Amino acid sequence: MEKKFKRHLITAALPYANGSVHIGHLAGVYVPADIYARFQRLKGEDVLFVCGSDEHGVPITIKAKQLGCTPQDIVDKYHAIIKDSFNRFGISFSIYSRTSSKIHAETASEFFLKLYKEGKFVAQESEQYFDTATNTFLADRYIVGTCPKCGFEGAYGDQCEKCGSTLSPDELINPHSSISGATPIKKKTKHWYLPLDKYEDWLKDWILNNHKEWKTNVYGQCKSWLDGGLKPRAVTRDLDWGIPVPIEGGEGKVLYVWFDAPIGYISNTKELLPNSWEKWWKSEDTHMVHFIGKDNIVFHCIVFPAMLKAHGGYVLPDNVPANEFLNLEGDKISTSRNWAVWLEDYLADFPGQQDVLRYALCANAPETKDNDFTWKDFQARNNSELVAIYGNFVNRSIVLTHKYFDGKVPAIHDGALQKIDKDFIASIPQIKEQLQNSLENFRFRDALKEAMNMARLGNKYLTDTEPWKVIKTDKDRVAVILNLSLQLCANLSIVFEPFCPFSSKKLQAMLKIAPVNNEVCPTSKPDGLVSWANIGRVDFLEAGHTINAPELLFSKIEDEAVLAQVQKLNNTKKANAAKASEAAAKVVTPQKAECVIDDFDKMDIRTATVLEAVKVPKTDKLLKLTIDTGIDKRVIVSGIAEYYTPEQMVGKQICILANLKPRVLRGIESKGMILMAKDGAGKMRFITPQEIIANGAQIG
Ligand code: MF3
Ligand code: ZN
Repeated sequence: MEKKFKRHLITAALPYANGSVHIGHLAGVYVPADIYARFQRLKGEDVLFVCGSDEHGVPITIKAKQLGCTPQDIVDKYHAIIKDSFNRFGISFSIYSRTSSKIHAETASEFFLKLYKEGKFVAQESEQYFDTATNTFLADRYIVGTCPKCGFEGAYGDQCEKCGSTLSPDELINPHSSISGATPIKKKTKHWYLPLDKYEDWLKDWILNNHKEWKTNVYGQCKSWLDGGLKPRAVTRDLDWGIPVPIEGGEGKVLYVWFDAPIGYISNTKELLPNSWEKWWKSEDTHMVHFIGKDNIVFHCIVFPAMLKAHGGYVLPDNVPANEFLNLEGDKISTSRNWAVWLEDYLADFPGQQDVLRYALCANAPETKDNDFTWKDFQARNNSELVAIYGNFVNRSIVLTHKYFDGKVPAIHDGALQKIDKDFIASIPQIKEQLQNSLENFRFRDALKEAMNMARLGNKYLTDTEPWKVIKTDKDRVAVILNLSLQLCANLSIVFEPFCPFSSKKLQAMLKIAPVNNEVCPTSKPDGLVSWANIGRVDFLEAGHTINAPELLFSKIEDEAVLAQVQKLNNTKKANAAKASEAAAKVVTPQKAECVIDDFDKMDIRTATVLEAVKVPKTDKLLKLTIDTGIDKRVIVSGIAEYYTPEQMVGKQICILANLKPRVLRGIESKGMILMAKDGAGKMRFITPQEIIANGAQIG
């Protein structure tokens, strides 16, 4: 059953070039993808690891409009930032290019044209919103209006960001164009659709029967899409930013961003390997894996495969190990609310500590369910794992070698190995097997645990053998212990390389062994001893080889450093709360259902004056008001104590609903209701006439 693959084509979702990258992206997509790519390379496999910026789509054009620049300015800026962040975090792409490249436009155009010519699309006219002021069709995002669910006035035509409801522009109350402010009209427009329904049977067979091994979250999502039935999807849009639709009738239209972006994987391969790209994309013995987040599953498991199938000749993904989402300190990561840890910020605050974040994110990767990143956990991962286990073992081994053997790897004499040494040596390949199995099955958290277990093994070995005591009586014995400890250090430098590549480099430099050759050239092979195949060997370092002075692999992260991060987030929270209450104050609730004048006439609304006001004992909210209604003097109990003191109320003229059926509140009979309205800050205010009117005047 197990196929033998000749090469690994690894892709990571192309990030949108309209913002920076944050820890959620790193944990969900780029760290796992990089671990996998590095692991395969260490095994000596041919690896092509492709990524780039996704530079089309409506949000980029909106951002450009907001900032008064061109979409190209936006993508130029963020492409550079994102590329730099990935580079600094050691994400070892073979190529990181962009979808605004010439070769991409050509590749995507040709792809579209082939499908078009072969009749793989269906063309259809439909009514779309159109802005007569700017003469453009409006993408759903460009239409703003009042959310029918929560009354938020700034809801988009596809979603209300306030209450999270998914919307269609038709549902918005008072829809208007966010570009011109005009009320959009509906106009006919023609688009080309990929009839996914025609691929449904094939997809069902391919995924549901033949890829039962995919992660359950991925398989489950595919199954529910397929069970729900697939519909044709438009692959073109009315927009002026993107790849022009290269056919007659396509003027003023571009390819839909989700049509062109995945083709970016192909065009970026072409850009890197103009002469041999087809080998990667068109041979059956290519193993293709897409690393993505869960919001991309449908595009990578259903839409893109259907495109590739329609085109023909391309390989399909062998696996799509999508992750769930990473939360931050208990809340959903959100760009608009700035609830995120941005990579540039992390690098500024924790310079040189890329491996710590890589480690903490892998240890907490949302592999099977959403997961939470907390700064406390980050600190603990560093202090009690990287520092206390891995770093500590390496440090002890190297320090003791300098202390007792002048920094030279001590020799082991024939027959000197005891049972404890042999057991120790035998454990290394056992851990490797587990680790490898986990990596091959995309269980990166488990794999990382095994890597740390190998370091634990070293610490236990030193604790059990106590070279610092034995040195007083038996230097030859200590030679064995330290020789083997140093060999384990060499093993650890390989085992940890996919996860913490910077530290591995550092460790290999300390041990003065040739660094792991994990270059990004697709066919480079690890040379020398330092390769995955050699994990388990204990002859990396020859007797007499001089090692370098010890340096700390990891250093303790103090409470102040993480408190500062938590403080930063608290500030964000406060700022967001302030913004939210401002926005809430602006909320105008939607109009109620129609009524007739008789409904209104039933209500006896009058002017009245407050004569006395006292707090109702043992409550926070209620005031007992004695009112002159013009008809009588009566008591009304009102829930306004949060907003007015009794003193503020006395003497005020207000409006009341006089004929409300009396109710008993806290033992007090209340006859009527005070009319109130929410002010700009969300507080209740009573309604008072502009001019003094006699009490008892009817309002109507
Ligand atoms: N830009 C998309 C996102 O961030 C991902 C595109 S992946 C590709 O969700 F397949 F289209 F490239
Ligand atoms: Zn809403």
